[in-house]
Amino acid sequence: MNDRLVKACRLQPVDATPVWFMRQAGRFLPEYRKIREKHDLISICKNPDLCAEVTSLPVEILGVDAAIMFADIMLPLEGMGVKFEIKEGLGPLIHEPIQSLDSVSSLTTLNPKEDVPYVLEAIAQVKKILNVPLIGFCGAPFTLASYLIEGRPTRDFLNTKMLMYRDPKTWHALMNELATAMASYLRAQVKAGVDVVQLFDSWVGCLSPHDYHQYVLPHSRRIFKELEGTGVPRIHFGTGTSNLLEEMKQAGGDVFGVDWRIPIDVAWGRLGSDVGIQGNLDPAVLLGTSELIKSQAGEVLMKTKGRVGHIFNLGHGMLPETSPQKVIELVNFVHDSTQSSS
Ligand code: CP3
Repeated sequence: MNDRLVKACRLQPVDATPVWFMRQAGRFLPEYRKIREKHDLISICKNPDLCAEVTSLPVEILGVDAAIMFADIMLPLEGMGVKFEIKEGLGPLIHEPIQSLDSVSSLTTLNPKEDVPYVLEAIAQVKKILNVPLIGFCGAPFTLASYLIEGRPTRDFLNTKMLMYRDPKTWHALMNELATAMASYLRAQVKAGVDVVQLFDSWVGCLSPHDYHQYVLPHSRRIFKELEGTGVPRIHFGTGTSNLLEEMKQAGGDVFGVDWRIPIDVAWGRLGSDVGIQGNLDPAVLLGTSELIKSQAGEVLMKTKGRVGHIFNLGHGMLPETSPQKVIELVNFVHDSTQSSS
């Protein structure tokens, strides 16, 4: 059993730096595209056999040190009565976006065993075949709320901020519902067997530190608190969060995921040596030459050298245009160049 990832999360020495990638099971893999020709995204997620197969694909093909459950942050919302679809090349589309306290009140309580049995079943199945840790995940309340309010992917998050500023009561009611549901979803995933959990707050970087503190922190903090007793390491991820690191640390997490907009040593310095760090190569770097990839990955490794608790990753999801061969080279490069550092 390769447990580098769990060890790094716990700030323990490792024989080589663990590496995995967000969206490592996505469209850049021909093997995934082949399965996608016959099944849509949601159907793969809802079929535990297929889901377990897709989840373990990147471990076999790329040699990464962790698998992440093949699912989507939107899936559990179905159990709360939200109707949506996921449009290829765009993202989630919500049929009736949330606009008022009434629409928040009509959300139902998530019961993971009844509402997402297929996720829990797939976790049990994939655990049987994996020799690396399995990462469970959910969307953070802010990122989920932004989709629910905007109804579709956005750049400026204006409707989200408008509701937050104009109707704080509805905002906090929505965030509260989402935090409760996601805490129970993650606890169910832990019970089913995941070894690490990651909270994806992909879009929270659009907020000021003040607004993060007031409108987001209490809700994300509750999720981390409710997971504390499980003993499972918790990764707290966001993009464009260089203005928010201190606030995010207050919300909780054992490891913080940062993107390429901030040097990884600067981010880690601000977070402190009592937590781990995950990142932070720009996914677009993988579209460059092998020399460029090694040079930029080498920079990340140099900036984290000599410290326990670094997990190598991209700053955000793998791009569909990425060549699997370049990714395999990168995984080997990370392992080879850190092997002696234990
Ligand atoms: O390999 C993995 O990382 C695990 C699988 C995973 C998916 N979604 C499958 C998926 C994970 C971790 C997610 C999380 C997710 N989903 C996030 C948070 C992470 C992030 O990227 O910030 C968000 C914001 C979503 C919502 C969502 N779902 C978007 C924005 C998209 C992209 C739309 C597109 O086509 O580019 C999706 C669809 C989606 N979810 C795909 C995959 C592999 C790609 C489309 C497909 O294969 O049909």
